[in-house]
Amino acid sequence: MSKDATDSGQGPEKPNQGDGTLLAGSNSVLEPETLTRLDVPVPRYTSYPTVPEWSRTVDEAAYRDRLRAIGTRSEPISLYVHIPFCRDRCAFCGCNVVVAREQARSDGYLDALEAEMDLVLSELGTKPRVSELHLGGGTPTFLDEERLARLFEALRSRFELDDHTEISVEIDPVETRVSQIELLASLGVRRISLGVQDLDPTVQEIIRRPQSVEITRELTEHARRLEYSSVNYDLIYGLPRQTPASWTKTLREVIELRPDRVAVYGFAFVPNMRPHQKALAEFPIPAGAEKLELFHIATSEFTKAGYVPLGMDHFALPEDSLSQALEAGRLDRSFMGYRVAGPKVLIGFGPSAIGDLDGFYAQTESQLLRWSTAVKKGKLPIIRGHHLSDDDRQRRAIITRLMCELRFDLSALPAPLQPAVEGLRWMKDEGLLEWRGNWVYVTEKGRPFVRNVAMVFDRYLEERRTQPGFSRAI
Ligand SMILES: C[S@@+](CC[C@H](N)C(=O)[O-])C[C@H]1O[C@@H](n2cnc3c(N)ncnc32)[C@H](O)[C@@H]1O
Repeated sequence: MSKDATDSGQGPEKPNQGDGTLLAGSNSVLEPETLTRLDVPVPRYTSYPTVPEWSRTVDEAAYRDRLRAIGTRSEPISLYVHIPFCRDRCAFCGCNVVVAREQARSDGYLDALEAEMDLVLSELGTKPRVSELHLGGGTPTFLDEERLARLFEALRSRFELDDHTEISVEIDPVETRVSQIELLASLGVRRISLGVQDLDPTVQEIIRRPQSVEITRELTEHARRLEYSSVNYDLIYGLPRQTPASWTKTLREVIELRPDRVAVYGFAFVPNMRPHQKALAEFPIPAGAEKLELFHIATSEFTKAGYVPLGMDHFALPEDSLSQALEAGRLDRSFMGYRVAGPKVLIGFGPSAIGDLDGFYAQTESQLLRWSTAVKKGKLPIIRGHHLSDDDRQRRAIITRLMCELRFDLSALPAPLQPAVEGLRWMKDEGLLEWRGNWVYVTEKGRPFVRNVAMVFDRYLEERRTQPGFSRAI
């Protein structure tokens, strides 16, 4: 980074971390009082405003109106398709899933998905071009080969998918056959994301997720032979019985497998929202400084191995498109996590799916039966949403830049947001933030707390004064 550029206040040439490093901060130790002050419930900011702020005023009629307006635009869109089924519930899981054994359940589900797509298309009035398609869950590979083929046929007959459409699928390696990833490759999928979580057998037993490193290795190597362009791993730090030694071993095994990207999520232990997690309470669960240490170990291992830290909790090889997007100022964040900046319109299908119709958020009913009954009767079961105001958009832009680039431009802050910066001065004194010319940077020490920084720009949290059901900062 050129000193002149920052000192003159013109802004940096590269985003924070674009060269694989973060501003180091003054020292790496946090005082216990500072940690207590920071370790509060915080949103993940995959949207702003966050879901608890949305209202029921966005309903089916409003959603249909918005779809009609979007249909008059000819730009490409993104699609998210939710497959809620899992064969078993992993004890750590914080997602909204439906435990099912019988494959036949997916037939009725696919009927309902097709009905929902037709309802959306009848409002759009066109066959939109899709530049990004993501299948998430639950477990998309709950669908066997025949059902996966049916789903892709349903999508291709309704939307314009071509060789440039970036298609990605979430994979649970234990529940995925080689024949399924072969089929997915032949259907045009180029990116897969493997749930790995932790490779330590003791941790795996507690979280009820037995998954040998060989399973993960075989699937990764097979995906490479099939020319998938990117393999992502999801890892979780702060799981019961994880120790610095066991976690370091997991990280080194992961690094040996050389995934293109890694998401390192902090364990969200939310037994009040996910009662099945209560079974974990009898085990030691790293919290506070212990948990933070696990994140710092991950940062150290991945950066030593040549990975670029991305946003709040990701690492990617320098040649990966996310690292390149960071370098080019095109890293973005959506409901699906970090992505290369793309379409402004995301349409979600399935129960609990969230869409963003260019600043108009809408979420479907999350209960499977209520969702499927509604769509089969010709209704789009939108239960909440939010239409962004100009103020929301300004704040969203700052929060997104912060979550992606770990910095923001003071000179570009709209006047009403300037006072919020005062709420950040103490973080500067703690070495979590650095002021350089007009830019405020989150340091390496501050990175796990970027959401605490983002919170000062969140008008709704300020007004509410309580943080509804979010997991803690660390
Ligand atoms: C939709 S989930 C599960 C995908 C797939 N069924 C699997 O199990 O591999 C996607 C990711 O969310 C993360 N996740 C789920 N529950 C979590 C929790 N309680 N805390 C942190 N991350 C969690 C996991 O890393 C998981 O791979």
